[in-house]
Amino acid sequence: MGFPIIGESLEFLSTGRKGYPEKFIYDRIAKYSSQVFKTCNLGQPTTVVCGAAGNKFLFSNENKLVTSWWPDSVNKIFPSSTQTSSTEESKKLRKFLRNFLKPEALIRYVSMMDTIAQRHIEASWEGKQQVTAFPLAKMYTFWIACKVFLSIDDPKDVAKLAHPFNNLAYGIISFPIDLPGTSFNRSIKASKWVRKDLLSIIKKRKVDLAENRVLLTQDILSYMLLTADKDGQYMKETDIADKIIGLLIGGHDTTSAVIAFIVKYFAELPHICQEVLKEQMDIAKSKRPKELLNWNDIQRMKYSWNVACEVMRLAPPLQGAFREAIHDFNFAGFHIPKGWKVGHAVALYWNANSTHRNPESFLDPETFDPTRFEGIGPAPYKFVPFGGGPRICPGKEYARLEILVFMHNLVKRFRWEKLIPDEKIIVDPLPYHAKQLPIHLFHH
Ligand code: HEM
Repeated sequence: MGFPIIGESLEFLSTGRKGYPEKFIYDRIAKYSSQVFKTCNLGQPTTVVCGAAGNKFLFSNENKLVTSWWPDSVNKIFPSSTQTSSTEESKKLRKFLRNFLKPEALIRYVSMMDTIAQRHIEASWEGKQQVTAFPLAKMYTFWIACKVFLSIDDPKDVAKLAHPFNNLAYGIISFPIDLPGTSFNRSIKASKWVRKDLLSIIKKRKVDLAENRVLLTQDILSYMLLTADKDGQYMKETDIADKIIGLLIGGHDTTSAVIAFIVKYFAELPHICQEVLKEQMDIAKSKRPKELLNWNDIQRMKYSWNVACEVMRLAPPLQGAFREAIHDFNFAGFHIPKGWKVGHAVALYWNANSTHRNPESFLDPETFDPTRFEGIGPAPYKFVPFGGGPRICPGKEYARLEILVFMHNLVKRFRWEKLIPDEKIIVDPLPYHAKQLPIHLFHH
């Protein structure tokens, strides 16, 4: 359990910063059990549940034995998240999202994403010999998130809002010490700035709605403002601002991390890039000049999506998620008392260690091999970058479209080489390149 109060948080956070967060898990799996061990993390006693059986147990016992839980750092950055239970908040958010992430909406997003991808590439990649890939990937995904959630489309407005978001995300999973210089402190400051900005956007939207200048269905912001709950209550402006901040972060940081790692792997594995190029050029050649991508084109990008999945297996954007035990229960012969936090085995700390990079789940797990996803793909609960069960990521399909549209636009224009061959990876809490992935671009 480590030191009093801070427990093993420093080691947990520092292995991530050194680029191998899985070490924290591997060391303990070797010492205690391959299925479950306990630690004290981010100020909380925590049980880490590992492996496909652990994932299955947690995903299928949501709201029966466990419920979603966020560390103190999250609650301090999003104060409105503590007002009701996380289950209630999740239900509310999923209800709002349903309209914007349903299949008919997603089909419409493909051409919009393609338009933004082209505008972004023309403005920031075309004509350049060198670019820094990670911030550009963020710019693209943030632009789309602003368009979908807030109808903000002008690149200048997007850039203005984007700046503080960079600081916001990096303190969300941190030890909650609010002192100058800590990432938690920077995150709180950034969240205040963003909230203020969003509140003024919300106020302006209310006026626009009252004067019938915008539609109810225009975006999630209008929808949140005009939809009452079952008791006839409308959401408070600060709650709406926090929900939109959460969506803007969840909806752009994760996908941009995947895009950056795709850029990295394509530079390292030209034969994989070549196969993707072939698939994407077949699609490009079947289209009329200037015709935008559509839903059918996305369905043809099978190999490209297998490649993206393999990237998420090796570099999952989210390392895992927390749950809280709502009853005493037993797992793998161990007793877990009510109130304990259960970190399930997804992504980097959990996934990468217990399933994604485990030879019991994937043959030769360190090898990049997209064919693992052919046919029916990996067995259930072994590949879980989007989580599972009732809390599975509702943005999964949106993310797929956004990633594939970008891949299409990038590979058909360029090939590239990394400028720093062994650039360090840092995981805090998402994986990113220490120098932001500078690359040399070659136009086809
Ligand atoms: C590659 C991209 C993405 C990855 C890897 C990812 C991963 C995840 C994971 C693992 C969870 C579940 C956390 C848990 O078990 O508690 C989650 C939840 C969530 N994701 Fe994503 N996500 C991605 C993209 C997106 C996008 C694009 C959106 C929005 C459009 C989004 C919105 C959300 C929301 C709102 C939740 C919370 C759901 C709830 O509390 O019930 N995500 N995501």
